[in-house]
Amino acid sequence: MTDLDSFITGLPKAELHLHIEGSLEPELMFELAKRNGIDIPYASVEDVRAAYAFSNLQDFLDIYYAGANVLRTRQDFHDLAAAYFDRIAADGVVHAEIMFDPQTHTDRGIPFADVIEGLLSGMAEAEAKHGITSKLILSFLRHLSEEAAFDTLAMAEPWLDQIEAVGLDSSEVGHPPVKFAQVFEAAHAKGLKITAHAGEEGPPEYVYQALDLLHVDRIDHGNRSLEDPDLVARLAAMGMTLTVCPLSNLKLCVVDDLADHPVDRMLALGLKATVNSDDPAYFGGYIGDNFRAVAKARGLDREAIVTLARNSFTGSFLPPKAIAEHLEKLDAYVEAQG
Ligand code: HPA
Ligand code: ZN
Repeated sequence: MTDLDSFITGLPKAELHLHIEGSLEPELMFELAKRNGIDIPYASVEDVRAAYAFSNLQDFLDIYYAGANVLRTRQDFHDLAAAYFDRIAADGVVHAEIMFDPQTHTDRGIPFADVIEGLLSGMAEAEAKHGITSKLILSFLRHLSEEAAFDTLAMAEPWLDQIEAVGLDSSEVGHPPVKFAQVFEAAHAKGLKITAHAGEEGPPEYVYQALDLLHVDRIDHGNRSLEDPDLVARLAAMGMTLTVCPLSNLKLCVVDDLADHPVDRMLALGLKATVNSDDPAYFGGYIGDNFRAVAKARGLDREAIVTLARNSFTGSFLPPKAIAEHLEKLDAYVEAQG
């Protein structure tokens, strides 16, 4: 490890863009398949990893939804979340806002209660064991209908006080934010915060729609905003957080090479970028790996890295007092590192 690598590892940070189903490592996939008596189309863990070569978002989503099929019981969802938090405890993560895709499970007959209660118990365990706080973001699948999203919101009703926000993920192109304007309005009326994937593969127009029609508090990815200078100026002026995912962008061919990744260009343009892992089991690394890889590929200095970590707290859904406390600890760490 270089000095910069160990500086990154110890730097306090929050993860704001993580699909918990995307943290399902092949080893756990095999264990759950065995536990639940499910056949999976892979002979070995190496075989699974070899299948993780994607040329676009849809390639990945097909394998990601198939992988989620081994998740059946409340215990499975607990174990999935617990494994994620155990892993990120070593990456300096002190807070995480994690997305889950209920429709991926309820459409297979898994009760919503088992999904969310399993995740919540994994989150509670992580706080007790590692001191990592966390929040849940319920993501709607955008390849399905708005009516299906309304059904999902209704299922979530008994747990609304334990859900921080709603999000929008899955196949972006052809499923613009406008398709979900009404369900996001309903979620907002229930007091939920709003995020949406926009500008990962979709055009800048989808980012405008996320702002104007969904009234997002954060944009997930947002890369293609850079094609539109007016949009960049607007996002910068409003201090909109972008949850950027470097290794995901590389694996899904949003960028051809990490050396071309725009994260430092975003910062230079005044955009509030953060670094996140998206689907770490599928994209070759957790949040620390994402920081280290993009820092190396782009030659980021400590100042840029600290800004990215600061943005992860100021862009979080934590209350102001908690944010201030995290920033104090971050500053103390940076000072102690010299
Ligand atoms: N984009 C869209 N949907 C997703 C992703 C992503 O990167 N990961 C999991 N669902
Ligand atoms: Zn994502």
